[in-house]
Amino acid sequence: MRRTAPVWRGTLMESDLMPPELKTDEVWTLFDFESVFAAFRQDEVFASEMYNKTIGLVFGPTILGMHGKQHHDHRSLVAKAFRQSALAQWEPEVIDPICDQLIDEIKDDGGADLVKAVTFEFPTRVTAALLGLPQEDLDLFRRLSLDLISITEDIEAGLTASVELGTYFQEQVDQRRSEITNDVIGDLVTAEIDGEKLTDEAIISFLRLLLPAGLETTYRSSSNLLALLLTHPDQLEALQRDRDLIPAAIEEGIRYETPLVLVARNTTRDVELHGQTIPEGAQVNLCMGAANRDESRWPDAEVFDIHRSRRAHISFAGGIHSCLGMHLARVETRAMLNSLFDRVTDLTLLPDDDTRIVGMPFRSPKHLPVTFRATSADPTSRAWA
Ligand code: HEM
Repeated sequence: MRRTAPVWRGTLMESDLMPPELKTDEVWTLFDFESVFAAFRQDEVFASEMYNKTIGLVFGPTILGMHGKQHHDHRSLVAKAFRQSALAQWEPEVIDPICDQLIDEIKDDGGADLVKAVTFEFPTRVTAALLGLPQEDLDLFRRLSLDLISITEDIEAGLTASVELGTYFQEQVDQRRSEITNDVIGDLVTAEIDGEKLTDEAIISFLRLLLPAGLETTYRSSSNLLALLLTHPDQLEALQRDRDLIPAAIEEGIRYETPLVLVARNTTRDVELHGQTIPEGAQVNLCMGAANRDESRWPDAEVFDIHRSRRAHISFAGGIHSCLGMHLARVETRAMLNSLFDRVTDLTLLPDDDTRIVGMPFRSPKHLPVTFRATSADPTSRAWA
């Protein structure tokens, strides 16, 4: 499709989740890098307000559905909680110890399902720790997170989890209003621009959004990377030998197996792309998964190669809604790989149908059963990180 119809009137989604008032016959899909990139950059034309009527019904109003000054102001407030200086502190104090402990828990077992034991678990624990949730609430947080992000499979459980999370986060916000804490929720409660603070509703919607936006994407992208490495043992070995390759491997994994394949926009006026006119009011799906395999940008784009020369992919979107957590996702994934490689060796996949990377619009393997051996040496320091 990218080669023959990069701007196409049609949809890849089997079931259209749009509510009736947003349904239109004009559904278009963009496949090539140039068009997807152009659409992200023209946020006034390819608008995201329909999020307020789709995921907004579950999460509440979030920055994803805002534009202009309102988006700028809200994003600046929440971005404060994810600033680079905070990340530099979180990495050694929070993220590395969580990943080390996680792998310590399984390293002597001879094998594990890496999705259940590692790739779902590390972003869940990291998110809970950064938000400042009490340790004893981790089981509750894990269950509610899983139910919320599985909402398309079980809508009842998803909606119940959304309400429960709302109540739970409200308690956490109330506690910080009486006694401020040094964590992301504390930052959100105190953040201010021009004397304006975030409302409780805005904070709670943002916290709910972090589950699909931050936790789900990171668990799926790290599952994909491990699946790709395990099925390309030469590249897994190269990475274990030379940890300096980790950042390139993370980017190549996210390019090659984009965890969130497409996002939707609505056109606010007629717009021309590749000689085609997309009418005002159309729903346009921006297919980042196809754009990331565009052969006009990457030689041998259909090959997974951690050694390729780097060119920016589009998995973190672009323009005003570009991913707020991309640096966090990279740091977490790097920490997980370092902890794993320090503690186990001879990682071998036991492949079956569910180890394939599948799904739309979110993509990853269902499980990754592996065997491994604990390393005899003490885990080394993270000099390469
Ligand atoms: C590999 C992991 C990740 C991927 C592939 C990813 C991908 C994306 C994409 C495609 C968007 C744009 C969505 C749209 O415009 O419709 C986005 C936005 C966003 N992401 Fe991520 N994300 C990842 C990790 C994270 C993490 C760890 C966080 C947590 C802080 C996060 C927080 C957000 C937020 C808050 C937005 C909304 C930004 C805005 O509307 O201004 N993401 N992400």
